[in-house]
Amino acid sequence: MSDWETIRLSFADDVATLTVDRPDRLNALNVDTLEAIEEALDEAESEGARALILTGAGEDAFVAGADIGYMKDLSTPEAQAYAELGHRVANEIEAFPAPVVAAINGYAFGGGCELALACDLRVASEDAVIGQTEIDLGIVPGWGGTQRLPRLVGDEIARRLIFFGERIDAQDAHEHGLVGAVVADDQLDDHVADLAEELAAKPRTALAAAKEALNQAHETSLESGLRYERRLWSGLFGTHDQREGMDAFVEDREPEFE
Ligand code: COA
Repeated sequence: MSDWETIRLSFADDVATLTVDRPDRLNALNVDTLEAIEEALDEAESEGARALILTGAGEDAFVAGADIGYMKDLSTPEAQAYAELGHRVANEIEAFPAPVVAAINGYAFGGGCELALACDLRVASEDAVIGQTEIDLGIVPGWGGTQRLPRLVGDEIARRLIFFGERIDAQDAHEHGLVGAVVADDQLDDHVADLAEELAAKPRTALAAAKEALNQAHETSLESGLRYERRLWSGLFGTHDQREGMDAFVEDREPEFE
């Protein structure tokens, strides 16, 4: 297994956990950390992870954002490269061929919020605080926030969050639909582990197809989205899991998926 300084990748059966581990900077994402995340995603995929948990080390932060110390003196071309790297990482999370669950265990600001937005599901602990806070640094979200946030919470809420740079608590984030669930701080790890385990037991190919189709939902016209769905749907017929799932139903037994 690879040895990174600022992230950890671990496996429990078919579930991979990627932990951003830079607690002295509240897990802020510098270039090395983003590149390590890319490598870890590749490794998790090649190890066959059926679900991936993304979280932050320590008690305080999920990810407190892009690394402000690194960013502050960037030129425009350097900032462009940093944005491209951030976009690439978020896109790779979004395209990961199994569900990715963000376990938001504390501050998720700026790039931290954007990393969570690229995940399939978001669970926050009660003391998490979330926001696209870039406006007060004199910039705007640059790793997908202006695009993914309105898709998730709607245009009005996204504008409020981005214009005001508001830092909202987990309950408000839940009310806005920014996170799917809020759990007690000491239950976050178990809750997310159970969720990931349950996802890992689902038919892998069908789950990957569901993710791929859902990822298209905001990208295409309804007509081409439906065409895409038909192709993915029909492509599942003849797979082991389709035969097994339906045979098991007809035979009134539990399915055994691949
Ligand atoms: N980039 C780089 N360093 C960061 C950071 C970031 N995004 N967020 C926190 N840190 C560093 C702090 O500079 C501090 O370093 P120091 O110990 O050398 O002084 C350390 O992490 C701890 O942070 P600190 O601010 O002392 O902790 P706090 O508990 O008082 O406050 C926050 C925590 C998250 C509220 C505060 O750090 C913060 O607002 N961070 C910036 C969030 C932000 O705007 N992110 C968006 C960036 S795109």
